[in-house]
Amino acid sequence: MDRLRIQGGNKLIGKIQISGAKNAALKLMAAAIMTDGKVTLNNTPRLADIKTMRELLAGLGVSAEWSGDNQMKIHAQNIMSETAPYDIVRKMRASITVLGPLLARHGHARVSLPGGCAIGARPVDLHIEALKALGAEIALEEGYVDARVPPGGLTGAKYTFPKVTVGGTENMMMAAVLAKGTTIIGNAAREPDVADLAAMLNCMGAKIEGAGTDTITITGVEKLNGCTHTVVADRIEAGTLAVAAVMTGGDLDLIGAREDLIAMPLDILRRAGAFIEPHANGVRVKAGDYLQGVDIMTEPFPGFPTDLQAQFMTMMTIASGASMITETIFENRFMHVPELHRMGADITIHHASALVRGVKKLKGAPVMATDLRASVSLVLAGLVAEGETTVNRIYHLDRGYEAVDKKLSACGAQIIREKDEAIAA
Ligand code: UD1
Repeated sequence: MDRLRIQGGNKLIGKIQISGAKNAALKLMAAAIMTDGKVTLNNTPRLADIKTMRELLAGLGVSAEWSGDNQMKIHAQNIMSETAPYDIVRKMRASITVLGPLLARHGHARVSLPGGCAIGARPVDLHIEALKALGAEIALEEGYVDARVPPGGLTGAKYTFPKVTVGGTENMMMAAVLAKGTTIIGNAAREPDVADLAAMLNCMGAKIEGAGTDTITITGVEKLNGCTHTVVADRIEAGTLAVAAVMTGGDLDLIGAREDLIAMPLDILRRAGAFIEPHANGVRVKAGDYLQGVDIMTEPFPGFPTDLQAQFMTMMTIASGASMITETIFENRFMHVPELHRMGADITIHHASALVRGVKKLKGAPVMATDLRASVSLVLAGLVAEGETTVNRIYHLDRGYEAVDKKLSACGAQIIREKDEAIAA
């Protein structure tokens, strides 16, 4: 298991290429099993979670091979198994998004229930309700969701999600593509990942309208074909690196970043004092003369993303004044707070809100990564802390950030990756 050693204090200056979005790529890979044609995904990030999804697809008898640095070719000529086993699903919750595609293509799917998760309970009840609305027969057996297509096949339906769910919307949209008739999804997630998935499915021959809004209309088709698609830029990586620029007093040009996908986080950065300069190839983010605390509340897209909450909170620990950060999507998503305390941050949690009072300096310390976004927030803290910070258990980081240590080093960060012999032993 690796760890990162970071010497804080360097300004980050330079250009960084933003990778393809992990959360989009995982669902695009799942959707690729809905056709016996070949699907080519460009701009696919090389990440631990993508490797896990490849393993999951391999278990179903589907080949997903790298054919270039960031190009993957997926060919689901035949589906040999309908089971997504516990061993894989427990490592990566997004495995649940093979449920809709498997069901629609193969007629039967068995996907392990994901179980608990570090950032909250994260149930899949709404995925199940939505697929039932299309006529799927679903039973929960021995920790598995067992879903079958009824004798007449899946049928289009109108279903309104009682709560916005990204994965639930994606699962229903994918299943509806091969259902008979029209499906209307109400209160759909508007996240860019959903729109990217719909764009690829339409290129495969699906008829989806309204993805990216809260009402998605899908007219079922008989069959899908292969296609080539480029994964949308990772808005969470872009937002994270924008924070790195501002916190370190630096100036980063984020090549490939899409301003329209991070409008809300960029607005917070502007209000905190940063200069934001969108241009034809990305977004330049430059620290201002001051860093001011700003209140934040996480919300479904286009609101402020929960996946950037830990990073922005870390920035607020060294801002002037106080900021109130409220998490509305996941309970228990403040696990970075005790680690930030160890680095000298002043944060008080009250229910779903954290009151952050800015301090002059953070101090380097050994810290432990607990989940994906929490782990990158500790790296950000290490970049500005006095002295050395060691971030242990960075396998969380490797699940979602492509070569982040290399990208940061190339812009002036002092950061090295070491094997953690003590943990490995
Ligand atoms: C996705 C993202 C994750 C992001 C989250 C919210 C991927 C792989 N992951 O996760 O990074 O933080 O969106 O933007 O794309 N819920 C239910 N029942 C369900 C499903 C969800 O109650 O059946 C609840 C969840 O517990 C949570 C909320 O709905 O409180 C939103 O979750 P959801 O949007 O489904 O998150 P994911 O799709 O799992």
